[in-house]
Amino acid sequence: MKQSSTLLAALLAAAAVVAQEGNISGPTTSKDAMHYSCDPSSCKLPDCNCASTSPPGGLSKDVVPQFILFTADDAVQDYTIDALNQVLKGRKNPNGCPVQMTYFAQIQYTNMSRVTEWFVAGNEIADHTMTHEGDPQSDQIVGNLAALNAFAGVPQSALSGFRAPYLNYTNAMLQRIAAAEFTYDSSSTSSVPVTDPNTDAFWPYTLDHGLANDCLTLQCGTSGPAIKGLWEIPMYAIFDDKGAAGPHLMDPWLDAEQMGDTSKVLGWMQNAFTDHYKNAQRQPFGIYTHPIHFASSVPGQAPQPQVVKAINDFLNWAQPQQPNGANLTSGGTGTSDDTSSPTPSDPYRPFNAAAAQLVNAVALGAAAFGATLFAL
Ligand SMILES: *[C@@H]1O[C@H](CO)[C@@H](O)[C@H](O)[C@H]1NC(C)=O
Ligand SMILES: *[C@@H]1O[C@H](CO)[C@@H](O)[C@H](O)[C@H]1NC(C)=O
Ligand SMILES: *[C@@H]1O[C@H](CO)[C@@H](O)[C@H](O)[C@H]1NC(C)=O
Ligand SMILES: *[C@@H]1O[C@H](CO)[C@@H](O)[C@H](O)[C@H]1NC(C)=O
Ligand SMILES: [Zn+2]
Repeated sequence: MKQSSTLLAALLAAAAVVAQEGNISGPTTSKDAMHYSCDPSSCKLPDCNCASTSPPGGLSKDVVPQFILFTADDAVQDYTIDALNQVLKGRKNPNGCPVQMTYFAQIQYTNMSRVTEWFVAGNEIADHTMTHEGDPQSDQIVGNLAALNAFAGVPQSALSGFRAPYLNYTNAMLQRIAAAEFTYDSSSTSSVPVTDPNTDAFWPYTLDHGLANDCLTLQCGTSGPAIKGLWEIPMYAIFDDKGAAGPHLMDPWLDAEQMGDTSKVLGWMQNAFTDHYKNAQRQPFGIYTHPIHFASSVPGQAPQPQVVKAINDFLNWAQPQQPNGANLTSGGTGTSDDTSSPTPSDPYRPFNAAAAQLVNAVALGAAAFGATLFAL
């Protein structure tokens, strides 16, 4: 009895901490702060991709998929998997495959058999350090990989993404994850609306020429971390009624004036989605969660059916927007070796090497393409 109340206290304490993770209050990138430059004639796919609002490989927005990146962070528990199942279970991509997502997992408080199950179900497992360390050194980063491999059986080769706890990444940390041979980081923020001429909603890019996001808090451009081949998948904010002055990143439902008032948040998500899909360059759209906040089975914590409903309402609204049904012409879950053309029966096939690489990057950051809920 004593033990379980201690565990509960620890869980609640962890929830209180994570509630503030990624809480942003204003734009984190300005044009002046950026100092980013990258020449697309020398930085080319598949190894290099400049930060750009336009789709990679010179592709037109009309042929690239609209990705929804769905991620979860922190401990993997019975509660958190139940929470995710409330919104993802049974949900399918247009090609009939189950949607997948990326879980940035720590090992502290984690049920390793849940990790195994979640991975086997097709989801991506990524690294969030062993004990949610705010300034993680290599042992915290690589130790988590070793634990996920040894105790949950996730192959080392499948562990390729990293998200910094508290989104508190540093240049040095990015160097550490590059040294550990990660494919991508997804900790930086895009918080200028996608329709703004100075938006920082860049498609995923490599850090060969440094960072182009969060330039107010970290050195960007050539004076920042220039890391060959490491992909950065920015986290794309959504915006409230205040527009650019009201960005929301993780768990936006926590930012509603009252947790009960999630219809507003649904509206923010819908507006941002429409901007990404119709009014901009189909830069990926993000849903970044701490599933504990909408778990229905945590002892002592009230269920949050209105949050579950808001997420389901959003996905139910967004998914059918595909105008061409199954006749998708791009996107995909293929590998970079699979450069064949899409077919009606397998519309998710990437259509060229550049797209394949991009899709790999997005998918990896998005969930071994997991986060690819659907493509349009
Ligand atoms: C988080 O953001 C909200 C507004 O969205 C603000 O009221 C609150 O103080 C912020 N919390 C922290 C810890 O910054
Ligand atoms: C861990 O997850 C398994 C299912 O994979 C479940 O049977 C078990 O009860 C969980 N353990 C704890 C301590 O919650
Ligand atoms: C973020 O990282 C810096 C080191 O770069 C560290 O001083 C700070 O304590 C970290 N913040 C948190 C919340 O851990
Ligand atoms: C899909 O493709 C088939 C065969 O090319 C065509 O007959 C059908 O009209 C297309 N459907 C849509 C919704 O474009
Ligand atoms: Zn976290």
